[in-house]
Amino acid sequence: MQTNELIFATHNANKAKEVKALLPHLEVKSLSEIGFHDDIPETGKTLQDNALIKARTIHKATGKPCFADDTGLEVEALYGAPGVYSARYAGEGANSENNMDKLLAELDAITNRNAQFRTVIAYIDNTGKEHLFEGSVQGEILKARQGGEGFGYDPIFLPEGETESFAEMSAGRKNTMSHRGRAMRKLVEFLKG
Ligand code: IMP
Repeated sequence: MQTNELIFATHNANKAKEVKALLPHLEVKSLSEIGFHDDIPETGKTLQDNALIKARTIHKATGKPCFADDTGLEVEALYGAPGVYSARYAGEGANSENNMDKLLAELDAITNRNAQFRTVIAYIDNTGKEHLFEGSVQGEILKARQGGEGFGYDPIFLPEGETESFAEMSAGRKNTMSHRGRAMRKLVEFLKG
């Protein structure tokens, strides 16, 4: 193994692409790139629990330094929902389109559309020590989808102070302000130090 190799415990190719752009000096490998194809059940009740579950599973399987992230979209008028359940908001096996449809329907008659994306990253170093990093971005839920880039809830999330949804931005621009970008930069600073 190369000393600058770092495993990102994700099956999501979009996320892996975003993160590789932030860590150009490291050999970041996603789960498919190391041949790990099992699903890791996200049974935690918090983002932190789930990030740790994923990182521990991969660290146990490979013995290598690795990190995992868990993200939730927290909507103020819904008391923080869908939060840790964002991926299955419209039910088990729901896709992003189903999840966005459900959220738009829930907020149909609601004027407070404030929301934030929050990411927790769990990193396990080569001694097995665990480290946590968090990043968030404030914004609002749009009335309808805008843009075709990105993934997940990107088409209906307008970051605060911006005129474009996350799905109208390039991956690079989204990274400069996103929840995951912010959490990742904390990890990057830590790795540099
Ligand atoms: P996960 O924890 O990264 O698997 O994400 C949980 C849910 O949030 C999934 O439905 C993702 O599609 C969604 N999600 C995660 N990150 C983002 C993002 O950067 N933009 C939009 N949706 C996201």
